[in-house]
Amino acid sequence: MTNPPKKRVLSGMRPTGKLHLGNYVGALENWVRMQEQYECFFVIVDWHALTTDYADPSHLKENVIDVMLDWLAAGLDPEKCVLFIQSHVPAHAELHLLLSMITPLGWLERVPTYKEQKENLKEKDLNTYGFLGYPLLQAADILIYKADVVPVGEDQVAHVELTREIARRFNQFYHRVVRTPNPTVTGLPMSGPHLVFPEPAALLTPAAKLPGTDGRKMSKSYGNTIMLTDPEPVVRQKLKTMVTDPARVRRSDKGNPDVCPVGDLHKIFSSKETMAKVYEGCRSAGIGCIECKSWAADALVKILNPMQERRKKYADNPRLAWDILEAGSARAREVTDATMDEVRKAMGLDYSLEDDSKGRAKDSTK
Ligand code: TRP
Ligand code: SF4
Repeated sequence: MTNPPKKRVLSGMRPTGKLHLGNYVGALENWVRMQEQYECFFVIVDWHALTTDYADPSHLKENVIDVMLDWLAAGLDPEKCVLFIQSHVPAHAELHLLLSMITPLGWLERVPTYKEQKENLKEKDLNTYGFLGYPLLQAADILIYKADVVPVGEDQVAHVELTREIARRFNQFYHRVVRTPNPTVTGLPMSGPHLVFPEPAALLTPAAKLPGTDGRKMSKSYGNTIMLTDPEPVVRQKLKTMVTDPARVRRSDKGNPDVCPVGDLHKIFSSKETMAKVYEGCRSAGIGCIECKSWAADALVKILNPMQERRKKYADNPRLAWDILEAGSARAREVTDATMDEVRKAMGLDYSLEDDSKGRAKDSTK
């Protein structure tokens, strides 16, 4: 008996450099789980990085390799999922171009991230065609694999929604009507539209609130991160200076882990037993913050250590990582070639000479 085909997953990350714990909890950890159940494609979207960082691409290569090393470190396994680079699969660009023909400008201008990012990144000139087209390129990334499921964070849901709208619009313009095989047996209608693109579903990554060392959301731009590559002493030092329940000023003050960023870290990373000790000890002032933080650091080190060991294997031999990306990109191209054949046909771009005596006649007069 053959198993039913696995659902296909596609997700991507911009190569912006080494990843931090927030990236792990917000995305990677989930991807690592998904590779067991789904047919997964994970792409490093270097073209997307250029939409905002076009003025200085000098770090692009280094950032691509850093993201890849962190992916492998976190446990993405090239035996179980396809890891690749967007720019090594040029068909993403071709589909982006073709989709641009049918994409109303208003749809792009209305995407919430468009205005937000332009506001947030005031120091960059984002009045560019590439930046407006960012979510359309993302739609091409997704649709070209006919992905069923797109695991993303909250901020990306609007992009997946746009992708669905583009898929629908494409299917409306360019479907072929095909005969149903064995309609009497299957009870299906005699014929129906063959739709090139399925509509992908966003799978919202459950957003555990991961605070940075200053208590705000962990984010590179706040400088409050704990990196997947931070060595143990750095993790411990960062924890030492991490903010705590502001009501607990002195050792003798009672505190509340539910309003303490260190408490949040415990909730995500510590065992039940440790959690119990934290609640008990913090609320009764039985433990000090220094001790409590050292337990949180223990929990972090425990998950970071195996990652850093795995990372080292590839970092010492980057050829290995590039080979994985090259093989992944080749596998991705197999899929995109097939999709693009369908897309070109659907859009009237299939100029094969069969059944086309006019074209042939013209040629032969030369
Ligand atoms: N825009 C996504 C982000 O910033 C990255 C991305 C590009 C992506 N293409 C994608 C995510 C396709 C999911 C699917 O996080
Ligand atoms: Fe936070 Fe722990 Fe201090 Fe309580 S004991 S305030 S949870 S660091």
